Amino acid sequence: MPCSNHLSLRWHGKRCIQLVAATVVFLVICDQLGVTLHIAELDYQSEFRYPLEEDVSSSVESLKLGLEPDIHPINQYNYPFISDARRKCLDLNGNLQPLRLVYIVKSALDHLERRAAIRYTWGFEKRFSDVDIRRVFLVGKGSDAKVQRGIDAENAEHGDIVQADFADTYYNNTIKTMMGVKWAANYCSKAMFYAIVDDDVYISTKNLLRFLKHPTAYPQYWKEAFFASEQPAGKKTNVGVQRLKQVESFLDQQSGSRNKLYAGKVMHKSPLRHKFSTWYISVEEYPFSMWPPYVTGGATILSGDTMIDFYYMSHYVKHFRFDDIYLALLAKKLGITPLDNPEFHIYPDKPYASNDYEYVIAAHGYSNPQLLTKAWNEQKSLGNA
Ligand SMILES: *[C@@H]1O[C@H](CO)[C@@H](O)[C@H](O)[C@H]1NC(C)=O
Repeated sequence: MPCSNHLSLRWHGKRCIQLVAATVVFLVICDQLGVTLHIAELDYQSEFRYPLEEDVSSSVESLKLGLEPDIHPINQYNYPFISDARRKCLDLNGNLQPLRLVYIVKSALDHLERRAAIRYTWGFEKRFSDVDIRRVFLVGKGSDAKVQRGIDAENAEHGDIVQADFADTYYNNTIKTMMGVKWAANYCSKAMFYAIVDDDVYISTKNLLRFLKHPTAYPQYWKEAFFASEQPAGKKTNVGVQRLKQVESFLDQQSGSRNKLYAGKVMHKSPLRHKFSTWYISVEEYPFSMWPPYVTGGATILSGDTMIDFYYMSHYVKHFRFDDIYLALLAKKLGITPLDNPEFHIYPDKPYASNDYEYVIAAHGYSNPQLLTKAWNEQKSLGNA
């Protein structure tokens, strides 16, 4: 160390103190920037594991069949539904309806204007006479009695509020998402597809339905690049080659009649280790160098089979406070690879421009309900929404 005897002969005490001080400052900065944490990280590729680590597949199957599982669930997301919109997915005889698409919109108690706009734009259930669409809004609980009366009135009018008894706060996002998953599994389990969407997102239901028809062949310009990749090696386009790989891994995991879609904007990222970030995460909480590949929150598309698998698997996967990462952990445990699509514009957003939204499926940045309504109406009249 610099302050040992023979060094202190050459260095005055004062210099030494300065050096120590500088070192301390340096280490503190390193720590704040997360450099020291990066050193403590474990390699994702070779060392990834996440509780529960044992094989839970037979217990998951037991739960699905309503049997007693061998392994006791570690998670149940047991927050009672205050309102469960249980008629939403039933037909006139009280049976679950087979639906094409269900929007599960993550909202906040006081976002009534956003909900009002969504009901008459992309969340409009009768948008297409031959496609059965449903929409619910997910909220937690607050402490303001007046706000709650507003929610009750809204629900009495529209019957589309799913409310559960947990504190509606940012870091309870995973609870909110998982209450949506639980709701789908318990009250609306016969849909072909689900979209878990934030209430500040623009969606084109028309484009989303097109995408769902052929998740590997939308949009058109990608399809073209994909076919270009079937040309002789020298002529292959990069985007075509990447696309082909993705399509292959997506198709690989479809077995029999099961459709394991988990789609949106897919991220391959490292955890943020600098302490001033909203998304700071300690090595204790998540020790690996990378997140599992995840569909970034905002708009996440699940097939019915994936939704059901997520619900039952969640009983055995330790809670994590970022909801998009939690879903990715479930997918990883289930061996489901997310499918990326370039028309999910969630971070970075795609600012609205009427001539630039032809293929857009989802775009973030619509916290202003007037903007959403204007954009959506314009795109609808252009045939794009
Ligand atoms: C999440 O909700 C639970 C249940 O209401 C509450 O006890 C907890 O404080 C909430 N957590 C945060 C971070 O708000």
